[in-house]
Amino acid sequence: MGGLGKVAVLGAGNIGGSLAQRLAEMDLAREVTLIDIVDGLPQGKALDIQESAPILGFSTRVTGSTSLDALDGADVVVETAGLARKPGMSRSDLLSKNAAIVKGHAEAVRDHAPHATVLVVTNPVDVMTYWFRQVCGFPAPRVFGESGTLDTARFRWFVADALKVAPRDVVGFVLGSHGDTMVPVLSLTSVAGVPLTKLLPADTLAAIVQRSKQGGGEIVNLLKTGSAFYAPTASQAELVRALAHDEHRLLSASAHLSGEFGEKNVYIGVPAVIGRSGVERIVEVSLSAEEKTAFAASVKAVRDDLDLLAQLPG
Ligand code: 2OP
Repeated sequence: MGGLGKVAVLGAGNIGGSLAQRLAEMDLAREVTLIDIVDGLPQGKALDIQESAPILGFSTRVTGSTSLDALDGADVVVETAGLARKPGMSRSDLLSKNAAIVKGHAEAVRDHAPHATVLVVTNPVDVMTYWFRQVCGFPAPRVFGESGTLDTARFRWFVADALKVAPRDVVGFVLGSHGDTMVPVLSLTSVAGVPLTKLLPADTLAAIVQRSKQGGGEIVNLLKTGSAFYAPTASQAELVRALAHDEHRLLSASAHLSGEFGEKNVYIGVPAVIGRSGVERIVEVSLSAEEKTAFAASVKAVRDDLDLLAQLPG
């Protein structure tokens, strides 16, 4: 059993259900509660996961509810609710519908779980994380978004597959927005310390960068009815574990910038140290001139979406 009392997962779709399963199996908390408006869905998935406990050996209590009152006393909240992409849609196409869902949830978290640390997953995630934090009013380090952890996992896998090395030996960062402008940072990627640029030719690296940027879309096009959830929930669980065990992990996460990388008042994927209370600090790595230009373009794309958010009614 780990260090958290209660983790609340908002949304019991593919992401919420898979995440609740991972968190229960990791035994990180006394209780994992799934919350969704569709009656039966959170309760059914929770009970199904719970019934695996005797075989898998975890002690976490898994509950499901249609009421936001179930947020009461949560130490960690993961916001997964919202529409997912269908083929042909960008993450930004989800903005207005998901903003309305996130608003209600951020108000409920503010009222029911005022001390919680919040991980936002709903797309477009950099914008929804900004919005969640604006609505709930929590200190910025206690609200952060999952984005780079997932994009980095995809990038690491493509590199591992190309080199036929163990995936865990590939370390690196994908920074910037969780969108078409994300920035896989070759200058910070290595295989157990050996620089990636010494291991693969430039054309292979360019193809890996391109595939990583379209990694989410590749899955959407294959599934046709929704978006990825296995790698996303593995990334989210890694972040929740960093909170639960106060691990001080240096991971790529969507964090609030107040001057770092020359940017202010925006959430975007940066290297961040994640511990019990969220983002402990942002590590301002040096980027090549080309990477700096790509990062600035990614910030601009998020700011364009923030402008759209500001124009929404209500
Ligand atoms: C993805 O990249 C769902 O945005 C998520 O798969």
